[in-house]
Amino acid sequence: MLDKKYRDEALDIDKQDLSSIPHAVGWESPSNIALVKYWGKKGIQEPINPSISMTLSNMHTQTRIHYARAMNEHGRVWLRFNGTDNHPFGKRIQRYLDTLDSYFPFLKSLDLHIDSRNSFPHSAGMASSASAMSSMALAICSIEQNLREEPLRSDHFFQKASYMARLGSGSAARSLYGHYVEWGQHAYGSDEFAHPYAKKIQEPLSFLHDSVLVTSTEPKKKNSSSGHDLMEQHPYRQARIEQALNNLEKINRSLKEGDFHSFSEVVEEEALSLHAMMLSSRPGYALLKEATIRIIDELRAFRQETGTQVTFTLDAGPNVHVLYPTREKEKIRQWLHQQLKPLCENGKMIHDFTGNGPEQLHNGTY
Ligand code: PMV
Repeated sequence: MLDKKYRDEALDIDKQDLSSIPHAVGWESPSNIALVKYWGKKGIQEPINPSISMTLSNMHTQTRIHYARAMNEHGRVWLRFNGTDNHPFGKRIQRYLDTLDSYFPFLKSLDLHIDSRNSFPHSAGMASSASAMSSMALAICSIEQNLREEPLRSDHFFQKASYMARLGSGSAARSLYGHYVEWGQHAYGSDEFAHPYAKKIQEPLSFLHDSVLVTSTEPKKKNSSSGHDLMEQHPYRQARIEQALNNLEKINRSLKEGDFHSFSEVVEEEALSLHAMMLSSRPGYALLKEATIRIIDELRAFRQETGTQVTFTLDAGPNVHVLYPTREKEKIRQWLHQQLKPLCENGKMIHDFTGNGPEQLHNGTY
């Protein structure tokens, strides 16, 4: 639906005078952690089931683009990712930019100097593609916004950026907004772009801490793309779709009532089901490490003994996201430090929390 609209309104700038418009844009966009997971696609990067995520804050990507009319007939792109010209992820970003060409034909008339940096380790299931692709989508949409005679309204701008981010990485569609975000067709909502969670959330669930226990930073054996593909013929595909729909209903109730216990039940079931899907794919594969399982066992034992409000989720990787409300922060941090740090790779943990969404860093001259 939107695809046609965005292609129809695509802006070309062959004859436009660019001298008076800003020529540098920059956006910081956060990572997000899914609570009900998106796993499996249909059509063009659309999800087979709706998902809900919490936007993070400290884990983000900053993307700055300096642009000017191309010196030669065709525009060129100079891309640095995490300070390196030849970063393997840079190639993925380059492919993503090629995908965007048909929506932003003006890109071929520009030379682009792109600098993109993560605040956290790349890959290893840290949803780096969500922040990287969403900050890139925002920067490209900002260039378009600067070139337009009539800029888009803010809500349309973010909707378009969410749509475009989705084309780079499905989960990136959700990084366009703060707090809790939904993506996918359900009672309302769309498969094409994400939208902020609109219903009221009761304490203590409206703001959570997320301490990521890094059990391994080695590159993943299988990337998310091939994982999504394996869902096409997955023996549990239909059951998984129903489970996600059910869990979405349940988590809606937990958020409305501020019920941490039922929230944890959903979130943990979702995390383990995601990995169960990977294990039972054809061929199956495991991204969990021994330390992942030990951390989960320790967390459940600690919760049982102390009655602390704490839960966990996992991304498509072995690292454990430990979620807890502020009132438990001191107790949890002490426990993490004493008991779980030794299970992390080089004792590495990243402390994060519910974030407010992307921030524009720059729009003007360099
Ligand atoms: O955005 P992708 O294509 O890398 O897929 C990520 C899917 C999960 O992170 C595992 C779940 C989710 O909903 O974010």
